[in-house]
Amino acid sequence: MAEPLRLGVAGLGTVGASLVRILAEKHNFLTDRCGRVIEVVAVCARDRSRERSVDLSAMKWFDDAVALARDPAIDVFVELIGGDSGPAHDSVVAALDAGKHVVTANKALLARHGTELAMKAEQNGLILNFEAAVAGGIPIIKTMREALTANSVNRVFGILNGTCNYILTRMEREGISYDDCLAEAQRLGYAEADPTFDVEGFDTAHKLAILTSIAFGTKVAVDEIYVEGISNITPADIQAAYDLGYRIKLLGVAQKTDTGIEQRVHPTMVPFDSAIAQIHDVTNAVAIDGDIVGQLVLSGPGAGGDATASAVAGDIADIAKSRPGQQYAPAFGAPAAQLAPYRQARMRAHAGGYFIRINVHDRIGVIASVATRMANENISLASIVQHTPAKQEAAKKQDDHQTIIMVTHKTTELAIRNALEKIGEDGHLVSAPQMIRIEN
Ligand code: HSE
Repeated sequence: MAEPLRLGVAGLGTVGASLVRILAEKHNFLTDRCGRVIEVVAVCARDRSRERSVDLSAMKWFDDAVALARDPAIDVFVELIGGDSGPAHDSVVAALDAGKHVVTANKALLARHGTELAMKAEQNGLILNFEAAVAGGIPIIKTMREALTANSVNRVFGILNGTCNYILTRMEREGISYDDCLAEAQRLGYAEADPTFDVEGFDTAHKLAILTSIAFGTKVAVDEIYVEGISNITPADIQAAYDLGYRIKLLGVAQKTDTGIEQRVHPTMVPFDSAIAQIHDVTNAVAIDGDIVGQLVLSGPGAGGDATASAVAGDIADIAKSRPGQQYAPAFGAPAAQLAPYRQARMRAHAGGYFIRINVHDRIGVIASVATRMANENISLASIVQHTPAKQEAAKKQDDHQTIIMVTHKTTELAIRNALEKIGEDGHLVSAPQMIRIEN
């Protein structure tokens, strides 16, 4: 049997603790599968005294992740610290410089520095694996990087944040408040240390940046992503979407267009009967439109300790099965030096249908004026209704406001923004308009 594969694990939070426990519980099983013992020989975390329900007694303790990354006693550095700079970044660079393979679940790090890290790994003949960085337990990286190599991808999109999907699902299904849903997602270990990363869409953007690079063979370009989160989605939007036959999901979408590649993250209305509308709670789903395979949809648990640790363990097992001297697959599918510059499509050129909800003063001619502003921008309306749900009746009498809901046929982002600006200038609005893109 080959020599044991010795791991140094940095970060013992939800995922790190799950990983150490799973590797201990499945020791014999993994040894049989990999033909080699996998052992955690050293760990590093901020707080040594914290209770983690895992036995760390046989492992060397480090307070400094960089020192662990350079320790000659390890073969693989497993980075589960998180964050795109500081100890996470420095320790991964140190590990690659010291000739260690790296496994990481750190989407922020890869979104920001993925191209350079992949280059360094390739130059040093090392593996950089990051299956757990996108969509938790779903094997989307290997699927796109390896199984779909022969496909040209036209679009990749999905629900990439478990916390947001959990919040939107419970708001729709049980009418629970946004704040209560978020608190529960945090308690269950789904949310990031700073949950604004989840609800404002940045976590989805980090994951989308990685998928875009693999799908289109481009350098990772997280700063070019249009990002809107879910924090201004109200129960009224969810109800209106439902009445129109849609669900609201936070989607990350990367799509080839005539002017470049669109990368966008925003709340999206998806038809009830679409595959993506059936994805509930913390589940993630990724759909890939390939020219040979057609559309592929993968779904599964997108967050949580065990689901994410499952992907990390798979990456470690791949390294255990590899042999020294072997040419390793490039981290982003194509050799890092050949990744093309990312050519960004302008968001204002985005074409699609739109849902618009505006609160207006209840006056003669408001609907006519709104409809004229839309027509002036060549926007064709699929429907326009003055919507007064029963619950609003009482409020209406006091404040003399009405809600108008419009759904457009395919138009452009620029046309919608121009029309909304003009409607605002006309003085009919009592609050900022709500605009949600529709994806069919
Ligand atoms: N906070 C992330 C989520 C964890 O909710 O999906 C997985 O990246």
